[in-house]
Amino acid sequence: MSVKRIISTRKETGEKVLRATTERSLGVNMSDVWEISYIQGSASEERSQGGYFATQKPEALLKRIILASSNPGDIVADFFCGSGTTGAVAEKLGRRWIMADLSKFAIQVTRKRLLDIHHSKDLLSEKKKKYGKPARPFEILNIGNYSIGGWKAKEEGFVKFILQLYQAKPLTGFNYIQGEKEKRAVHVGSLSAPVTIDEIKIVIDECKKNNFKTLDVLGLEWGYGVNELAKALAKKQKVDLRLIQIPSYNELSSALVGFDLNLFKIPDEIVEKEISKNIKFLELPYLEIKTKIKGKNIELNIVDFQLPPTPELAEISEKIKDSIDLIDYWAVDWNYQGDTFHNQWQDYRTKKEPRVDKKATHTYSKAGNYQIMVKVIDVFGGDVSKIIKVKIK
Ligand SMILES: C[S@@+](CC[C@H](N)C(=O)[O-])C[C@H]1O[C@@H](n2cnc3c(N)ncnc32)[C@H](O)[C@@H]1O
Repeated sequence: MSVKRIISTRKETGEKVLRATTERSLGVNMSDVWEISYIQGSASEERSQGGYFATQKPEALLKRIILASSNPGDIVADFFCGSGTTGAVAEKLGRRWIMADLSKFAIQVTRKRLLDIHHSKDLLSEKKKKYGKPARPFEILNIGNYSIGGWKAKEEGFVKFILQLYQAKPLTGFNYIQGEKEKRAVHVGSLSAPVTIDEIKIVIDECKKNNFKTLDVLGLEWGYGVNELAKALAKKQKVDLRLIQIPSYNELSSALVGFDLNLFKIPDEIVEKEISKNIKFLELPYLEIKTKIKGKNIELNIVDFQLPPTPELAEISEKIKDSIDLIDYWAVDWNYQGDTFHNQWQDYRTKKEPRVDKKATHTYSKAGNYQIMVKVIDVFGGDVSKIIKVKIK
C-alpha cells in the first residue's frame, strides 16, 4: 500500500487542496531503459574501490536490482563477482552475500573493497555521505584446496601418480623416500592428512642415513606452522629441504582435459609435453612472525616473507626492496576459535601507502590461553595462514 497524493478543487471556494490517501497505487512501470550513469572517470572513488576493473558496474545499478528482488537478511549471490560490486552493495543494504570468481585478482579486489567499505558511499541515506561501518565477518574459501575428487582411499596409486606428474623416478627399498628427481630425494605426503613436522623429521632421518643431502616433500595440505619448523630442522640437520605444493585436483583436471584423473593413468609423453606447460609444482611461501608479550599487550612482527621463484615474481623483482613488499594484505584474528576467521586487525597496501605495516598490536582484556590466526595474501593473490598459540597472564 502506498500513500497517494491527490490535488482536488473545493467546489465552494475553488481553492486547490492537497489530500493524502492510502488507496492502492500501482505506480509507474519501469521502462526498458534504466537511466543510471556509468562510472565516470578513472579517478572516481567508486572506480578505485573496484580496483579499476574493466567491467565494473555502478553501485546504483546493483542497488536497484537488490532492493527490488530481496529483503534485508536474504542471501544475494554473484558467482562471477569481478570487482565485487554486488557484494559491496548487498553488504550496505543489510543482505548477506556469497561471491565467487575463478580469478584470484577478482577475489583480491573484492576482499579489499569489502574491508574498506566504511570509506565508501552510503546507499540508504542521502545526507550521510560515507557508509561508516565495517563489513560483517566473512571468509574466503578456496574450493581447489579442499577437493580431492575421486581420489579418496587410493593412497598408493596417488603417490605413483604424483611422482609421475612431478617427473620423479620411483624408488623402492626405503620406508619414506618414494622417488628421486635430479638427485633430490622425494617424499609425497598423504592424500587424507596434512603433512606434519613428525613426518618430515622421519624423512630427513632416512635421507641422512642414505646420504641424500637434498629433499623435496610434496603435500596437498600442511599442518599449521610446518613450514618454519621444517626449515629450522633441515638447517640443523644440514639437509637442503623444499616443501612443494601439489596442485589441487581441480587445477590438475582443468590442465589435463580429456583424462580421467581417478584412473591415475596418463601417458608419459603427455606428462612431458603438457605438465611442465600447464601444471606448476611451487614451493610454499615462507612466513616468519615474531611474538612479543608484555602483560596483556601483544605485538606481532613479520620478520620474513618469501615466495617461491616464478616468472611472475622475476618480472617484479626489481621493485621489491623488502620482503614486506610482496604482501598485499594481512589480517589477524586475536582469538581464533577454529571456525570463522574474524578480521579483528588488518592492513593492506593502497596507492597512497604501498607498503603494509610489519607490526600488529593488541591488548587482551582477560588473561588466558589464546589462539591467534594470521592470514597473509601476497601480491599475486596466494594466501598463507598461520596459527600462533599464546599465554596471556
Ligand atoms: C564481467 S566480470 C563481472 C563484473 C562484476 N559484476 C562487477 O560489477 O564488477 C565477469 C567475471 O566473471 C569471472 N568468470 C568468468 N568465467 C568464470 C567461471 N567459469 N567461474 C567463475 N568466474 C568466472 C571473470 O573472472 C570476471 O571477473
